[in-house]
Amino acid sequence: MKNYRIAPSILSADFARLGEEVKNVIQAGADWIHFDVMDNHYVPNLTFGPMICSALKPHAKKPDGTPVPIDVHLMVQPVDALAASFADAGASLISFHPEASGHVHRSVQAIKSKGCQAGLVFNPATPLDVLDWVIDDIDLILIMSVNPGFGGQSFIDSALRKIEQARKRIEASGKDIRLEVDGGIKTDNIARVASAGADTFVAGSAIFGNPDYKAVIDSMRSALAGV
Ligand code: DX5
Ligand code: ZN
Repeated sequence: MKNYRIAPSILSADFARLGEEVKNVIQAGADWIHFDVMDNHYVPNLTFGPMICSALKPHAKKPDGTPVPIDVHLMVQPVDALAASFADAGASLISFHPEASGHVHRSVQAIKSKGCQAGLVFNPATPLDVLDWVIDDIDLILIMSVNPGFGGQSFIDSALRKIEQARKRIEASGKDIRLEVDGGIKTDNIARVASAGADTFVAGSAIFGNPDYKAVIDSMRSALAGV
């Protein structure tokens, strides 16, 4: 089985009990914690900022103390200042939408200069062209399989073709780049998404919408084992 990662999105967690939710989902087998930052400007919704990230950081560890990466998905415009604040707040990976940055290469460098891994996020209608010039500088490609802004939307099938294309670009680059998919991931489509080439899976409503987080994560892993 490949080195798959499951990244529950706390967008669908109980915001009144976020620390406990992070702990519980890690205990249930989460590999990363996906942290959706929305600014009511780049997307029509508003979530949480760096102060919540630093408050959650001490909870983002396995029972044996191993840190669990916080995967920050910035849906904000502009990018650089907030990216720096999230690096200071304990983010491990920081991804942003190229449309939201005036200078994509500069934003990538700003994230990396803070010691974080950098990712680029592609909306359903956004082509991958920008990768022509920055793929050597990034650590992660995040393909949106819904339009950003809300949890609980349906998977957009054209994302599968885009995942295949992104996988080809990663192979051609010869670099170790994660290929993450975000939106509408469920137990019954995760294998298809992995077959297209994804190795990292964000899931919000599928996990937090079920009282048994471990049962969902386990069934996602069994689906992945069959790929
Ligand atoms: C949407 C967010 C997603 C969201 C996914 O803008 O980026 O991470 O939480 O939610 P589900 O898994 O419910 O589609
Ligand atoms: Zn996300």
